[in-house]
Amino acid sequence: MPGAAARSRIRELLARQPRIPFALLPTPLEYLPRLSAALGGPAIHVKRDDLTGMAFGGNKTRQLEWVLGALLRAHPDVEVLVTGANIQSNWSRQSAAAAAKLGIPIVLVLRNTEMQEIQGNVLLDYWLGAEVRFTQEPDMTIVMREELDRVVDELRAQGRRAMKIDPWAPPIALSYVDMAVELDEQCEARGLEPTRIWLAAAGPTQSGLELGAKLLGWRADITGVAPLTWTGADLPDLTAEAANRAAALLRVDERVAPSDVDNRTDQIGPGYARPSAESLAAMRLTARTDALLLDPVYTSKAMAGLIDAVRRGELTADDTVVFVHTGGLPAAFAYRDTILEMSRV
Ligand SMILES: Cc1ncc(COP(=O)(O)O)c(C=O)c1O
Repeated sequence: MPGAAARSRIRELLARQPRIPFALLPTPLEYLPRLSAALGGPAIHVKRDDLTGMAFGGNKTRQLEWVLGALLRAHPDVEVLVTGANIQSNWSRQSAAAAAKLGIPIVLVLRNTEMQEIQGNVLLDYWLGAEVRFTQEPDMTIVMREELDRVVDELRAQGRRAMKIDPWAPPIALSYVDMAVELDEQCEARGLEPTRIWLAAAGPTQSGLELGAKLLGWRADITGVAPLTWTGADLPDLTAEAANRAAALLRVDERVAPSDVDNRTDQIGPGYARPSAESLAAMRLTARTDALLLDPVYTSKAMAGLIDAVRRGELTADDTVVFVHTGGLPAAFAYRDTILEMSRV
C-alpha cells in the first residue's frame, strides 16, 4: 500500500487506542551537512526526538503517551504510580514529568550502586516532585522486574491504589509505529528515500519502528545499537515480542520475527552508562560539525556505530541515513569531568 494510504490506515488503527498527548509533535527532521561531509559517506539526517518537549523530552515521552493512556483507562482511580531503572534513567524522568502533568504522585526506584551525586536526570526527578528511592541492586533486570513490584505491594499494603508503569507494557511499541508514520510523511514531503534508519535501542523503540516499517512497506533497513544487554533474553527476541504485542493490539496480521531485527551489541564498550573512546569521539564530532549534542549513554554509542559503519564501508555515498535522536541529554550533566576532558582535545 503506497505512502498516504498506508499512513491513513495505520493512523485509523492507532486512533482506536488510548493515548494521552504529552509530546510536541511532529519532531523536526534535520539534515546534517557538516557531519555528512566529515564522514564522506551517506547523507545523514536526524529525526529530532530529543525535542519531544516534556521536561527535556526524548523517546520515552512518546512511549508514555500510550502506556499511561492504557493504564489510566484500565485503572482510572490510580493514586500513586511506581517505576524506575538506573539513576540517570530518562524513562524515570519522563515518567515523573508525565505524573506531574497528570497530578498523580510517583515513586521512582533508581539503581545507584556507585552513590552518584544528585545531578542530571535524578535532579530533575526531585524537581518534578517524584519520591526517589535508591537501590543498591546491581542487576537492572531485577530492579525492573522485582523491586518495582515490591514497592507496589508495599504501597498497596498501606491502602494506596498503586500501579507500576511497566516499561514493557503491551502498548509501548505503538509509540514508534506512530513515529514511523510521522517520519514517512516528512520524508515523502522532502523527496527523501532513506535506505537506513539508525538508532540507539534496547527494546520497544526499535520494536515500534520494525512494525511501522512493515506496515508502511519501507525499503529502508533498521539498525539498532544496544547500550546494554538484558539478563536472560536476547534483544532481537524482546524486540520482536514487543512489536508483536503492539501488532495484536492494532489487530493487524503483520508480525516481526527476531531474525528481522538488526540489533548490535558491539558498541557497549566498557559497559552500560560507561562511555567508550568511540562514543566520546562521536559526541565531539557531532557537536563540532552540526552542533548536535548526543547523550553519553545511548545516542553517542549509536552514533559511534554509525561512524564505524561508514568507515567500514557498510554505509556508502549511495545511502541516505536517518539517525533517530532519542534524547537523554540531561544525563550529560552527570558526566561533567568526562565531557570536559573529551572537549579539551
Ligand atoms: C535516550 C534513550 N535512547 C534510547 C533508549 C532506548 O529505548 P528503548 O528501551 O525503547 O529501546 C532509551 C531508553 O532508556 C533512552 O533513554
